[in-house]
Amino acid sequence: MTKPLEGIRIIDFTHVQAGPACTQLLAWFGADVIKVERPGSGDVTRNQLRDIPDADALYFTMLNSNKKSLTLDTKKPEGKEVLEKLIRESDVLVENFGPGALDRMGFSWERLNELNPKMIVASVKGFSDGHHYDDLKVYENVAQCAGGAASTTGFWDGPPTISAAALGDSNTGMHLAIGILTALLGRDKTGKGQKVAVSMQDSVLNLCRVKLRDQQRLERVGYLEEYPQYPHGEFSDVVPRGGNAGGGGQPGWVLKCKGWETDPNAYIYFTIQGHAWEPICKALGKTEWIDDPAYKTAEARQPHIFEIFKTIEGWLADKTKFEAVDILRKFDIPCAPVLTMKELANDPSLRASGTIVEVPHKKRGSYLTVGSPIKFSDMKPEVTASPLLGEHTEEVLMGLGYSQQDIFNLREVKAV
Ligand code: COA
Repeated sequence: MTKPLEGIRIIDFTHVQAGPACTQLLAWFGADVIKVERPGSGDVTRNQLRDIPDADALYFTMLNSNKKSLTLDTKKPEGKEVLEKLIRESDVLVENFGPGALDRMGFSWERLNELNPKMIVASVKGFSDGHHYDDLKVYENVAQCAGGAASTTGFWDGPPTISAAALGDSNTGMHLAIGILTALLGRDKTGKGQKVAVSMQDSVLNLCRVKLRDQQRLERVGYLEEYPQYPHGEFSDVVPRGGNAGGGGQPGWVLKCKGWETDPNAYIYFTIQGHAWEPICKALGKTEWIDDPAYKTAEARQPHIFEIFKTIEGWLADKTKFEAVDILRKFDIPCAPVLTMKELANDPSLRASGTIVEVPHKKRGSYLTVGSPIKFSDMKPEVTASPLLGEHTEEVLMGLGYSQQDIFNLREVKAV
């Protein structure tokens, strides 16, 4: 099956998570992704949090599937020469080095554009160009703090909290992938490449859009009616942390189910969607609430919403999270069990859809990873193993016209 990005060659100058998540996605969709790594060590995640001695860590294998690995010391003249050749023959270069690293290596945007005016140069940085923090190196949790996620996540009586979801890393990579695909379409029209830049702070903030909405509402009216602080608590002049509150017109909370005393994940998320109030009352056997003025409207329920959640927990006390959802789904109530990583890894539906895939690997045996969350009617992205360090060095160099002797010489000077 022809994949849409077949024929697009990408120099993958990325490391850790943000950049690799982007290029992995493009590789699933058919791009020829060549990961350029430092000889001897490669991407730092190959060694981070190893669970099998001498085998690439899962951190690396789960972010670098479907790629080739070329080792190249791009600080050596011989390595730079190889990179220049590769740049002339590629469509995209993606990087997420610390600020200024590519310039210091001698590959500024101007130089790259001179070498290949059709090439798209895509970068992830912690902060956008010209930002007063644009000299900072940034990791996931730093970005979550800088992008507004931490100050709005967690409970009001606790500290700012980091989400387990990679809002700073993989999320930024996904934004970059959209930027690259847009620039490729643009190139079809203009024949020219361009620079695409995404900052982790901006990407986190983009996902915190509704919190900026809330800041403006708070400034205008002084309270936020869907937050647990309303109407009994206090608001300051900044958006507070709302715990597990649901947003907009559908309040919700994480509620205890049977077994919560010993199982930290025996919970469901329960949403009280406005127009589902009647089915909710029927599901709970509280039909008297349907027309009771103290319960009938969202406004009437809000002042005692936690008393309502307590009643629902009473109903849940003899039901597991799965049994509860099986009943509530019949009443069209938006809800889900709180699923653990163990449950997700073994979920037959996720296996069948290709969202959780088992990938054979030369050194590890096999490993589980998250496959493409994007599904197509005409293409099923296949996940193949991440490359060993330098696995494709010879293949890539020969493709660039280097002879066996040239490759030997490059090895002698430790440039590959
Ligand atoms: N050959 C020779 N040198 C290489 C090389 C290669 N193939 N690949 C990388 N290098 C060098 C770079 O030239 C640079 O050297 P320099 O600092 O002497 O100029 C160095 O390796 C890489 O530096 P840097 O990217 O700053 O690495 P770091 O480990 O100090 O910092 C980050 C890691 C992630 C904090 C930093 O890269 C960063 O802030 N990136 C942007 C934001 C980002 O993506 N963060 C999220 C990561 S999940």
